[in-house]
Amino acid sequence: MSRVLVTGGAGRLGRSVVTVLAEAGHEVVSVDRVEAPGLPAVQVVHELTDAAAAASLFAEHRPDAIVHLAGIPAPFSAPDEETFRTNTSLAVAVIAGAREAGIGAVLISSSPTVIGYGAPAGWRPSALPIDETHPLAPWTAYAAAKVAIEELVQAEVRAGAPLRLGLFRPCYVVSPEEWHGAPTQQGHTIADRLDDPALAAVSLFNYVDARDAGEFVLAWLARPDAAPNGSVFFVAAQDSLVREPVGEALARWVPETGGFAASLGPGEAVFSSAKAERLLGWRARRSWRTELVAGTKPAPMGGPTHA
Ligand SMILES: NC(=O)c1ccc[n+]([C@@H]2O[C@H](COP(=O)([O-])OP(=O)(O)OC[C@H]3O[C@@H](n4cnc5c(N)ncnc54)[C@H](O)[C@@H]3O)[C@@H](O)[C@H]2O)c1
Repeated sequence: MSRVLVTGGAGRLGRSVVTVLAEAGHEVVSVDRVEAPGLPAVQVVHELTDAAAAASLFAEHRPDAIVHLAGIPAPFSAPDEETFRTNTSLAVAVIAGAREAGIGAVLISSSPTVIGYGAPAGWRPSALPIDETHPLAPWTAYAAAKVAIEELVQAEVRAGAPLRLGLFRPCYVVSPEEWHGAPTQQGHTIADRLDDPALAAVSLFNYVDARDAGEFVLAWLARPDAAPNGSVFFVAAQDSLVREPVGEALARWVPETGGFAASLGPGEAVFSSAKAERLLGWRARRSWRTELVAGTKPAPMGGPTHA
């Protein structure tokens, strides 16, 4: 057992990450500006701002590792200036604070949007399925901030920092209550997303169950030195969030993938998590085909409350 501090632990992804870590026997401290009722963690309500404040918080709780999830979680959900400034300064504060407090390992959430799908000026994949070798081409302030955060991690590695650093790019996160009909990040339900493929086409039908993403975090924390320092991982379901064969859906809804779409098997994921499987032994276990609960009322959210 070890102690893990999760920033953004009260969020959509954070609640599942905290729960998976706690169920695996870790002692978890969640640091968030809000509290989530019933979260199996010590909850510290704190507005993460600067590195000095982060370092003293980390020094006080002395975690063995930090999982950094806090931030503005999607493009266009806040003004660009706020999104870029908030997300990059949070990452700077967490990395510098961890270094100063002598923390052993830090895992940071990035996003698949760094590769630039959906760019209004045009975008084509370099190959399908998409893996971590795909070129970066962000076209939103949110995605540009994630690229900057990935570069901050590489800078820390090049500077010879003693801490282990990792990055993961979770696909569209589906929390347990969303399988039961609770609204997703965009306000519609998962059933809506399947009924209208245009909704999920913008993110190439990618998704991951939040508990599977939590299990990825668990796997990384178990072996932070299994991959070169600063390695990045896509974290995706094994299939695509669309009813029809994904190659046909891509050809119809995302024609710019044409030429590559036929190379995908009918139920294959557009994003490959083969690197995480090879290096960490992790693969997503859950699929919309087994998790989606048709016609049920939303399960209790246990969502955040303002403390
Ligand atoms: N949800 C997705 O589909 C998705 C996909 C890819 C990447 N991500 C990334 O995963 C991470 C978590 O996303 P999420 O969907 O759980 O978002 P969320 O908004 O549900 O959770 C983020 C949490 O961070 C907290 N927070 C924000 N600013 C803070 C601050 N200054 N100090 C303390 N706490 C702060 C919020 O209160 C919230 O609880 C983000 O980095 C996001 O970019 C999410």
